Amino acid sequence: MTTIVTPTQPIDGQKPGTSGLRKKTPVFMAPGYVENFVQSIFDGIGGAEGKTFVVGGDGRYFNDSAIGTIIRMAAANGAVRVIVGQGGLLSTPAASHLIRKNKTDGGIILSASHNPGGPTADFGIKFNIPNGGPAPEKVTEAIFAATTSIRTYRISDVAAPDLSVLGLSDVDGMTVEVIDPVSDYAELMGTLFDFDAIKALFGRGFTMCFDAMHAVTGPYAHAILEKTLGAAPGTVINGVPSPDFGGGHPDPNPVWAKELVDIMMAETAPDFGAASDGDGDRNMIMGRGQFVSPSDSLAMLTANATHAPAYAQGLSGVARSMPTSQAVDRVAVDLGIESYETPTGWKFFGNLLDAGRATLCGEESAGTGSNHVREKDGLWAVLLWLNILASRDQSLAEISAEHWAKFGRNYYARHDFEAVDTARANDLVDTLRAALPSLVGQTFGPFTVASGTNFSYTDPVDGSVSDNQGLIVAFDGGSRFAVRLSGTGTEGATIRLYLESYMAPEGDLTLPVDEALSEIVAVAYDIIDLVVKTGRTEPDVVT
Ligand code: G1P
Ligand code: ZN
Repeated sequence: MTTIVTPTQPIDGQKPGTSGLRKKTPVFMAPGYVENFVQSIFDGIGGAEGKTFVVGGDGRYFNDSAIGTIIRMAAANGAVRVIVGQGGLLSTPAASHLIRKNKTDGGIILSASHNPGGPTADFGIKFNIPNGGPAPEKVTEAIFAATTSIRTYRISDVAAPDLSVLGLSDVDGMTVEVIDPVSDYAELMGTLFDFDAIKALFGRGFTMCFDAMHAVTGPYAHAILEKTLGAAPGTVINGVPSPDFGGGHPDPNPVWAKELVDIMMAETAPDFGAASDGDGDRNMIMGRGQFVSPSDSLAMLTANATHAPAYAQGLSGVARSMPTSQAVDRVAVDLGIESYETPTGWKFFGNLLDAGRATLCGEESAGTGSNHVREKDGLWAVLLWLNILASRDQSLAEISAEHWAKFGRNYYARHDFEAVDTARANDLVDTLRAALPSLVGQTFGPFTVASGTNFSYTDPVDGSVSDNQGLIVAFDGGSRFAVRLSGTGTEGATIRLYLESYMAPEGDLTLPVDEALSEIVAVAYDIIDLVVKTGRTEPDVVT
């Protein structure tokens, strides 16, 4: 029953990125790696003495072992209580809710989100603050600073409890509470949505397929969709979490959720399809024979949110990350509410949500959420869609067609170039940044450049400034492209090219997306000098 103060040395590269610290699993498994980072979290937030934390993860390989270490370190650092999901499982939105509901001092979430899991795949650790949201930059900077000066870490020699058993136990004077990961979250969802209307929808014979992608949302989806709302057994596929996500990428997009796409594109497709990612914060939405881009989903949810009880009084505002299409901006104008454009990463939405300036938020990368937690929330998006479908009693195809007929359509795609040599990727970005002023007024194909912007964000709540958040080339008429480097990759650099072509309501609103974007893709590749700068002619992934 002793705390061991273990001497250590700083480990290079423990710098949190867009969403916590992400590295290859063997890096995290190296001796002292988790210990150094977790001690730095505690040191960076002013110590753990007397504090309560939520701890859980997406169940990927090494999840349970890392949680054991965190529990023993929290005890040795003087924490009084740790709330942990049974089996070490907590979806990211469920963890955010528990942090808020229990008024804790924050939480430690173990996930590399949509990245693959396994002994040679990816792992991640992220700290969330007491509002339930990802730590803002001033906190991650303090944590990083602590990693560079660490000399010792504290760990108890008492074993962590068996996480498969619900209930209370004691680790060196600290209480560990193992809870059901689903029940609090399911209860919250019941307060937001009209569950009776959704039950009635399923009662009318409405069919659905939810692909949990062998990741954390399986238990949540089984409990809420099948048991509570009456969706047919078998609605949830791949619903048992596995440490390597069944060998796939738990990334809900048409590439990695191909099983769902095939089901939804078949003649026998159900009415509605959805998927979520490794840690349950992302979503993909499909209708029969139709993929809904995340940017369009945000716009359509915003336009229809008042169908759900939680939003019946209207929205205070909406926020989207810069690369997300401008579709939701048009809805915001129509509703007479503010639309905020923030840098990439959910942490930038926290202040807007806390200050009551935004009710819904979204990112092009399959993230949508609201003020009910401080993370994006995959199942929440699915349930809001179900509430809208139930209340309007129309198909998703009808709802989207009406939406585009009113607002026009922002055709959208993201091209990712992965594992690009870091120096070459930086050169591409540096060259484009330098060229931005001279592009304005030039014509490329059918497009004339209206503006070239190195995106910088001033938080309207606390005035903090985040520079260099991506480069935007906007054309007359509302089309544009943007470029930025990923902050979550674990190998070389990933260049993200975001492409958006606006079609007014009188134009053709039913084009295949790649056809609608073909001109802007060619122009963007030309302007960024893609082939020369990277040696690539095609993206690795299109979403
Ligand atoms: C990616 C997404 C971003 C999201 C983040 C965490 O970050 O693009 O929208 O917030 O994952 O899920 P990136 O790799 O682009 O930095
Ligand atoms: Zn995720």
